[in-house]
Amino acid sequence: MDAILVKGNGPLRGRIPIAGAKNACLGLMPATLLSEEPLTLTNVPRLSDIATMSHLLESLGTEVQALNEGRVIVTSSHEIANDRADYDIVRKMRASFHVLGPLLARHGHAVVSLPGGCAIGARPVNFHLEGLQALGAEMELKDGYVHASAPKGLKGARHRLPFASVGATENILMAATLARGTTILENAAREPEIVDLVKCLRAMGAQIEGEGSETLTIEGVDRLHGTTHRVVADRIEMGTYMLAPVITHGEVELVGGSIELLGSFVEKLHEAGVDVTPTNEGIRVKRAAERIRAVDVRTEVFPGFPTDLQAQMMALMCTAEGSCALEETIFENRFMHAPELIRMGAKIDVHGNTATVTGVERLKGAPVMATDLRASVSLILAALAAEGETLVSRVYHLDRGYERVEEKLGACGALIERVAA
Ligand code: UD1
Repeated sequence: MDAILVKGNGPLRGRIPIAGAKNACLGLMPATLLSEEPLTLTNVPRLSDIATMSHLLESLGTEVQALNEGRVIVTSSHEIANDRADYDIVRKMRASFHVLGPLLARHGHAVVSLPGGCAIGARPVNFHLEGLQALGAEMELKDGYVHASAPKGLKGARHRLPFASVGATENILMAATLARGTTILENAAREPEIVDLVKCLRAMGAQIEGEGSETLTIEGVDRLHGTTHRVVADRIEMGTYMLAPVITHGEVELVGGSIELLGSFVEKLHEAGVDVTPTNEGIRVKRAAERIRAVDVRTEVFPGFPTDLQAQMMALMCTAEGSCALEETIFENRFMHAPELIRMGAKIDVHGNTATVTGVERLKGAPVMATDLRASVSLILAALAAEGETLVSRVYHLDRGYERVEEKLGACGALIERVAA
């Protein structure tokens, strides 16, 4: 199994290209099931999660062609050959559940495995199911699978999500594009990935208004057609790499990055003493002060501080001046990186959903274990700033969401390599 070896060696300087967003792409790919015509996605990140979604779509009868070394994916769902998404694929990745809405809307029937829990929390799918039921779907849970049907087609309805869930918004939105009549989805998620999905669906002929706001209004149409869509930049990859020059006292330009996608993350960085400036090609990031200030963080839905950047921010706060509280409000068990950071000399106390971090002068390299996707990259950030060597094992988590991490950081001067461990 691969591991990543990092030797802390001072400031990172250079340019890092930002890939297309994994989470946007995982929302966009199932949209192919809504149309008989091809959907082409460009600016696709080359990640194992994207390969998993390709396999899932292929198992449903979609032809998937990867061009330009995987940067472009052409999907064609001429017919739905199979409407069962197996546990073997769905358990690998929760976003597999996104095929339910499109299958139901186009095909009238779907059997999709329940995703089950994952390391960061229980992550149920009740909001997805309730929303699709509001559109007239009948649901039965049998042997760990959701059996969903809409024999007479879906029907538009007014529905309010109990929480602005990203995945539930995507599933219900896609289903509503082919439902009869108007759907009004209240308390919808406002994340940039939702806005990107709406842009793509609209280019496919869907009638949707309100993206980026709390209410989505969808006027159902009879059919959608094919299109070509460029995947939005990955705001989480961007936020992660913004912290690399900050934690190492360097300066990096993120090419293809855009401040608008980052919500209150940028405000928190300013508060902590980080300079973030737009450039012609993206954004440039460096420290504004010698020592980073500790700042309190509370994760929230967009445009609040993203839960997917909480672990990386904790790594930065481990060497900040003073103490701060990091409160996680989106997932119930998302501090698994804390004990690993403590192995590197960090001072962290976790009580319930709050971690209190007191900055230390310098972290120290240690063997550590990646526990989930964002936790693994937080350990790499910490390792860049630490004295000595850090070996991060179980990096398959990292490969789900970060493309060529060692190349991108290595090009800025980091001593980082993939090793067999
Ligand atoms: C997506 C992102 C993930 C990110 C998260 C929050 C993808 C592929 N993943 O995940 O990286 O961390 O948004 O920004 O886009 N919940 C329920 N019932 C449901 C659905 C959700 O209780 O039916 C709860 C979840 O357990 C969690 C919270 O709602 O506590 C937020 O989940 P949600 O926004 O749905 O996250 P995902 O779409 O799974």
